[in-house]
Amino acid sequence: MHVKELFAKAHHEKFAIGAFNVANIETMRAIVEAAAELASPVLIESSPGETKWMGARNVISVARNFSSEYGIPIFVNLDHAETFDECMVGIEAGYDLIHFDGSALSYKENMEITKKVVSEAHAKDLMVEAEIDRMARKSSEVYKEQITIEELKKTFSDPQKVREFVQATNVDTMATLFGNIHGIFPTQPPLDIGLLQKICEVIPDTFLSLHGGSGIPDSQVQQAIKIGGVVKVNINTEMRLAFRQTLEKTLQENTKELAMYKVLPPVIDAVKGVVRKKIKIFGSANKI
Ligand code: 13P
Repeated sequence: MHVKELFAKAHHEKFAIGAFNVANIETMRAIVEAAAELASPVLIESSPGETKWMGARNVISVARNFSSEYGIPIFVNLDHAETFDECMVGIEAGYDLIHFDGSALSYKENMEITKKVVSEAHAKDLMVEAEIDRMARKSSEVYKEQITIEELKKTFSDPQKVREFVQATNVDTMATLFGNIHGIFPTQPPLDIGLLQKICEVIPDTFLSLHGGSGIPDSQVQQAIKIGGVVKVNINTEMRLAFRQTLEKTLQENTKELAMYKVLPPVIDAVKGVVRKKIKIFGSANKI
């Protein structure tokens, strides 16, 4: 199955596929085992930093090996590549999806580079995701300070701008903002489902990617998926938190063991727990 067929199925049947960040093989194993248990397709993703750490071709090889070992569809997404060259690393290594995040650039420059990325990626039958609105916070943080609704609203996507961008660039997927934000907050700000509805209406044939999936109440994510445009939900912070907290606890309990593969199983289980929960919320179980 091509990832585009999977997205079309998700769009039609109103479920989403989790896109889970990885920076090590233990996290990859956790994701794949959870997905296999639930017979769910899954996206493994790496940011440019994670890609550099793992090696782009290693990410692809391990994902492909796990896919054949566990018999489930696993697709690989390059997450938040911010330059054309970073996108080319993923395109040349054979990632299935390329997310070019030009939101730090001017709208015009973002559009020009997105077009170039689309041209390179589509020539290889890969999908492209674009982003025009800048997330107010970085992924992988547990914030103590609340974000105000006023600050958050400044990041919200303008449906007309989104439509214009999609028409000009021919991207497959848009990462839009309607209250979603990277990281976890003391009280997660609510999603603006009305705005999401408007975005869906202006780009009915474009897939939507929901970034900042950590911390959003389950019912709100489900509501966003039910609207029908969101087919991909990105998760990072919750997994990293589970990894780190369990690793600290396990090392405190076992001060002697030197063989890390004997120490890491509870860590893998903790990350697996997060992924399992998300897959159930997103409705992708039994969709392979
Ligand atoms: P969280 O860190 O909030 O889960 O967001 C992840 C993300 O959107 C990666 O692109």
